[in-house]
This record gives sequence, structure tokens and C-alpha cells, in this order.
Amino acid sequence: MEKQKQLQETIQFLKDKGITNSQVGIVLGTGLGKLVAEINIITEIPYAQIPHFPEATVEFHSGRLIYGELSGKTVLVMSGRFHLYEGYTAWEVTYGIRTMHGLGIQNLFISNAAGAINLSYKKGDLMLIEDHINLQGQSPLAFKEAKSFGNIFADMLAPYSKELNTKIARIAKQQHIKLHEGVYASVLGPQLETRAEYRMLQILETDAVGMSTVPEVIVAKQLNLPCAAISVLTDECDPKHLQPINIEEIIAIAGKAEPKMIALFKEVIESL
Ligand code: HPA
Repeated sequence: MEKQKQLQETIQFLKDKGITNSQVGIVLGTGLGKLVAEINIITEIPYAQIPHFPEATVEFHSGRLIYGELSGKTVLVMSGRFHLYEGYTAWEVTYGIRTMHGLGIQNLFISNAAGAINLSYKKGDLMLIEDHINLQGQSPLAFKEAKSFGNIFADMLAPYSKELNTKIARIAKQQHIKLHEGVYASVLGPQLETRAEYRMLQILETDAVGMSTVPEVIVAKQLNLPCAAISVLTDECDPKHLQPINIEEIIAIAGKAEPKMIALFKEVIESL
């Protein structure tokens, strides 16, 4: 019961800090932190101060949990996420999801930066994740105590809430925001893919590739927590015309497309 105990201590610590009524959870991806500026912040706590919370290492993330108001709802925002490629375990990568669930969130929204495998998609476009393929070789439900947190044989019929996705698609249409819907492949990284790997991802009929999100979504499913995720497409992964890419460029493109993602999140949260 070691992990249950840790998690309960984390949740109790945050409740004692006044985080007592969270309705919505949000995880912000690489280069996608500006949503925080729209929040009426009630409390913010650096991850390093939260008992048992993993500590953020990637320099692009500030690593803090923010509690506040957005679109008339109380939200908990993870500004800075944990990736398997940083050496965290799948338990650590998804610890924040279990924490936010323990604090009462009823819906979860996730963003990420991803490469476009579908070549009709362009850099700076958004993709609503409709389904995924887990190519990370790991599951956040494969550990000894996992059963005590819910069904480990979580069904993956609809890991992304149909209801939330329908709402988001409708909002995108109303706001004239181009929004693809597609399949996200998660890879371990941190290296980017070879041309042969991009060809494989095309053959697998995936539309985007990235290094996050899937562990969080699997845990949300174990917890019966409705979730939706949006990829900001930061590069075009054409194996025939592959360009050198650098992470700074990915982050810059994510930042440019970010306002569209923020608009969608704000309005879907308002509609809840
Ligand atoms: N591959 C994997 N992850 C990514 C990519 C990519 O091309 N772009 C942004 N994140």
C-alpha cells in the first residue's frame, strides 16, 4: 500500500493548502504554458514543495500546480508535465493525474506538441486526438499495487470522451479554427524519428506522433475520468523531404499556434 499512502499524503497536503473544490484538470504540453495567464490564480505550488510529487527537469517547464478560476470553473493546471524520456517511471509520469482526480476533478484536458504524420496537416495546425497507438512499450497500469487504484484491464474503446470531442469540434467550427481529428502515436523518444520510423507511422495510419499524453490518458481511463486532448502540430514528418528539426523551433511553433488551443479549452470548459 506504499503508493496509495503516498498519494493520499499528497492529496491531503494540497487540500490543507486550500485546494478543496477542483472541477477541471488541465495538463499543459511543451511550449504551451500561456493558458496560465488567463487563470484567476487562487494558489500555486511548485512541484518541488508537494510531498511525493516528481520534480520537473525539462527546462521549458516551470513545474508548478496552479489552482484557480477559468471560464467560470475551478481548475487545476499542471504547468510542466513529466515524460518517460526524462527517466521518470510511468507511475511518476501519471502521478499528477491521480492527484488531480483525488482532488475532485471531473474532466481532464491535455495538450501536447506533436509531429504531423498525416501530410495533409500543416505546422501550426491543431489536431483533436480521436484515438491513440501506444508505442512507448510501457503502461502506467503495470505495477504491483495497480489493482488497488481501479480496473487494470481498463477498456480502451473510447479513451477520449466522445462528448467532449464533439463539443470541441463544434466550438472549433464556430470559431473558424481549423481542427483535424486523428490518431496520435506515442513514442518514447527523446530522439526524433528516423525516416523509416516515419514511414512505419504512416503505414500504421497514425496522424501525429509525440512523446507524451498516452500514459495520462490510460490512467484517466482507469479512473473513469472523461478526457480530451489536443495536439499542436509543430513539424511535418515527411520521410521523403525530412528537414533537420530542433526543439527550439518546435517550441516556437507551438507558441504561435497556442492561442487557438487556449480558445478551444476556454470555451469547452465554459460549456461544462
Ligand atoms: N516526433 C516526436 N515527437 C514530436 C515530434 C516528432 O516529430 N514533434 C513534436 N514532438
